[in-house]
Order: sequence, then structure tokens, then C-alpha cells
Amino acid sequence: MEWLNIPNIDLYLVLGILFSFGAVETILGHYSNSDRRKDDWIMESIGFFVVAFTKALLVTVIYIIGSTLFPSVAGILSGWTLWLAFPFYILIDDVAQYWYHRSAHEYDWLWKHHRVHHAAKEMGILTSYRNSWVYYLIMPNLWWVGISTFLGLGMAAALGLIFKQIVVTSVHSTWKWDEVLYKYKFLHPIAWIIEHIIITPAFHHGHHGRAQDDHISDPNGNFGNTFSLWDQMFGTAKFTRQFPSVYGLQTDTLDKWTSQVFYPFIKEKQPESELSSSFKKVKNTGTEPLKTELDPGTYLYCQCGFSKDQPFCNGSHHGSKFKPMIVDINKKRKVSLCTCKLTKTPPFCDDSHLSLK
Ligand code: FES
Repeated sequence: MEWLNIPNIDLYLVLGILFSFGAVETILGHYSNSDRRKDDWIMESIGFFVVAFTKALLVTVIYIIGSTLFPSVAGILSGWTLWLAFPFYILIDDVAQYWYHRSAHEYDWLWKHHRVHHAAKEMGILTSYRNSWVYYLIMPNLWWVGISTFLGLGMAAALGLIFKQIVVTSVHSTWKWDEVLYKYKFLHPIAWIIEHIIITPAFHHGHHGRAQDDHISDPNGNFGNTFSLWDQMFGTAKFTRQFPSVYGLQTDTLDKWTSQVFYPFIKEKQPESELSSSFKKVKNTGTEPLKTELDPGTYLYCQCGFSKDQPFCNGSHHGSKFKPMIVDINKKRKVSLCTCKLTKTPPFCDDSHLSLK
């Protein structure tokens, strides 16, 4: 087991990072002003242990499988210098996390395991530990910790976990350390460099904002975990340097912590919940446009067809590759809004619905 080479101070450092940010959040009054439900407190309190347990389980399983089936590759990379091993570990980890996280927003079955993360109406260090157990169990990153350790990159994995812990904790925290960089113009170049390398609190808070109509939030973008590189590369980055004022889901059925953590082993009883056994997503497209008058403001036009509030978005697109269209209306006007979703000029009707008759 010499090749395992993981420093046992890792757990203490992770706890130290959490306690440091937690202490600042407490001083800032985050917990005395919290509107969390009892179920939120339970989920967030056990989340850390769910992740730690799953990580230990997977490392052990991979060690047993690896040493049984592939004993000759155990520790095969242990001779690598850290200068090579660390970037190798962290870049593979981060690109895998980007696509896993993005898939959780684009595929319905995986969204059901990740939605609990977005149901949080408040940010905070423990928000990062809200996911279903299955979400962690099949998370490529946790498998990568076990595989890289088995190959002899235990030290790189340990350093990577500490580095990720700092970034992930800070971007979920209510301690917005990056605000000062946006406040003073002379600091903007530094802000630009930092936000184009690592994920900042503003970048990730935007991902947790309730919906795009504030021109800050983009729950269907900013998927990165540690580096913003992948969002920039794959066209999902949105830099606003602002923080949303509303977090959470557009429609939240306030599910119990048990179904949110243990779905699909425990399902929600209320039929309107995405986590109930009877829930089905159905298209609610129409055959006639909605002729109405819109007041000045920002509207979200549904492009997926699943919203029950047609033609407007109600958040039902989560778990699909669709996202709403942002429509800004500057002065009161009469509009004819497409509900059949066949128009070539969304959100407005172009008579494409006539082809349905
Ligand atoms: S419900 Fe949001 S795009 Fe359809």
C-alpha cells in the first residue's frame, strides 16, 4: 500500500476549510437570518457525511477490484513528479465534472438526482452537499479519486481535493470575496484574469439564481466546478459580476429530505413532485397563439413546451436541453405569442400553427 501515498491530514484540511468559511458566514449573520426548512437543515447536515462515506466506499471498491483484476498496474504512475501528476489529475477531474454536471441539467433521469441542489433557496457552504446519494455514487469524479489513487497518484489526488474544496466551498458561500474586485475599476483586470481561470462566487451564484429574467442568473449555464475553462470552451459561460437576489427553483414542491436524498429508493408521495412515481412530463403546447398585451418588463418565453403556464416558462425545462428565451418589453404593447412552438420568429406567432389544421 506504499503507492497509496495519501497524506492523512487531508480530512483535517477539508474540515478546516469548511469551518473557516462557516465561521465567516456565521459572523455575517447568514444562519441567524436563515429561512431554511427543517428538511433543508437535515439534508445539508448529513450531506458532508454522505459524500465522505461514498468517496471512501468507492476508493475501497476500486482498490479491491483493481488489485484483484489488474494487480500489475497498482501504483504504476507513482514515479510521476507532482508537476505532472497534479495537472493531469485535476484537469481530468474538472472536465469530467463539467460534463457530468451539465448532463444533470440536460437529462431528466439525472436531473432528479441533482434538483435537490437547486431547490436551495439560500446559498451557503453546505449547499454544495445537497444531492441525492445516487448522484454521488455514479459521479465520475469520485471514481477518478479511487482510480488515480490506485494508479499511484494519491498525493496529486489529495492536493486536488484540497484545492477543489477551497474553490467549491467559496463559490457556494455567502461570503462573496470577489465583490471587492468588481467594485473598484482599477481591480477589474485582476477580476478578469481570476474569473477566466477559476470559478468565482458571482459566476456560480448565477448558476443557482432562480431564473434568467433577472439578466444575472443562468441555471442552464455556468456548469464549471473548479475552472471556468470548460464553460468558455463549450459556450456555456456567463460573466455578469453580479449576484442574483432570488435562488431556488421556479416551481418547488417542497419535497421531504428522505425522497430528495434517497430517490429512487424512496419516492415522494405528492403526485405533482418530480420525485413521485406517478409524475410524467407532458407537452402543453397549443394550437392557437396567445393574443395579449404585455406591460414593460422581462418575460421568459417557454421553448420546451412542458410549461403549464404557456407560453411562459415555469421551470419545467430542467432536465432537458431547452432553456427559456429572455424577452424584454420596453413599452406596453399588444403581442401574439406562439404556443405551438413551430414559429420561426419566437416568441411571436408567424402562423405556423395553421399547418396543424
Ligand atoms: S418551461 Fe422553461 S423553457 Fe419551457
